[in-house]
Amino acid sequence: MKNRSKSIVVVGSINTDMTIKAEWLPRPGETILGGRFFTAQGGKGANQAVAAARLGAPVGMIAKVGCDALGNASVASLAHEGIDTTGIISDSVNPSGVAMILIDAQGENVIAVASGSNMALTAAEVAEKKEMLASADIVLMQLEIPIPAIVEAAREAKRGGATVILNPAPAPKEPLPAELLSLVDILIPNQTEAELICGVAVTDAQSARQAAEQIAAMGVGIVVITMGSKGVFTFDATTGQSEMIVAERVQAVDSTAAGDCFCGALAVALGRGDALAEAVRFANRAAAISVTRRGAQPSLPYLKELQ
Ligand code: RIB
Repeated sequence: MKNRSKSIVVVGSINTDMTIKAEWLPRPGETILGGRFFTAQGGKGANQAVAAARLGAPVGMIAKVGCDALGNASVASLAHEGIDTTGIISDSVNPSGVAMILIDAQGENVIAVASGSNMALTAAEVAEKKEMLASADIVLMQLEIPIPAIVEAAREAKRGGATVILNPAPAPKEPLPAELLSLVDILIPNQTEAELICGVAVTDAQSARQAAEQIAAMGVGIVVITMGSKGVFTFDATTGQSEMIVAERVQAVDSTAAGDCFCGALAVALGRGDALAEAVRFANRAAAISVTRRGAQPSLPYLKELQ
């Protein structure tokens, strides 16, 4: 018998995505014409929060936006999704986060982010939200906010008994603090992020297992390595079991937020009691739908599309 959806608090970024879909990605110095421009709600944190909310979980968000029209629109949009926005702080100094995105005909993207207020979220501000963190069943985070804020959220989450899930994206420039990894229950890196964290180049199931074992030795309970078309590799440190789960095949239109969709969906599925492999299959299906549609949050599926 499955449990009801557990509550998820996302601590992370909120951006407005400004996107041009073009035939190809321009090289340095090249100008290309003929693209189509659109804006959408984005940011890895907000995307993961919306993915989880659309798939049926009660979701709250701790984040920081600027006192500007973009930030106001982002918060209103999250509230419209049914997300508790009382943990979102207004920043009177920095502007809201913006991402400039280029997408080619195959749906591949390049993204540059002006983090603005996202990178002004402090550990002290997160500590002020400790009641929200303590009441969560799952706390889900990424790396588009300062590391001290993430560490503080992980500490408070563990104090309250929540499961801590970290998606270490975008790939960290510095090694992650040992304390943070020791507080993480489930880590969801891609191949690049896994290599940056443990030093093992992940190319196949064998190297993924080596990397996952090294990451588990840092204190992480479950490692889920997303490997693009190769699939998703899972490792459970408690049982020592690992598995490679095949990827869904779809015609991609826009891969923006596919990873975020995967993380939000995985949190929902694990929260309602799915076994790890079953949860990964559910998250794969959700992410596969998201890449067939354009935009970050507009592409995220609803539960009824997965039933
Ligand atoms: O993961 C996709 C997201 O990364 C985009 O929505 C963009 O805002 C950047 O944060």
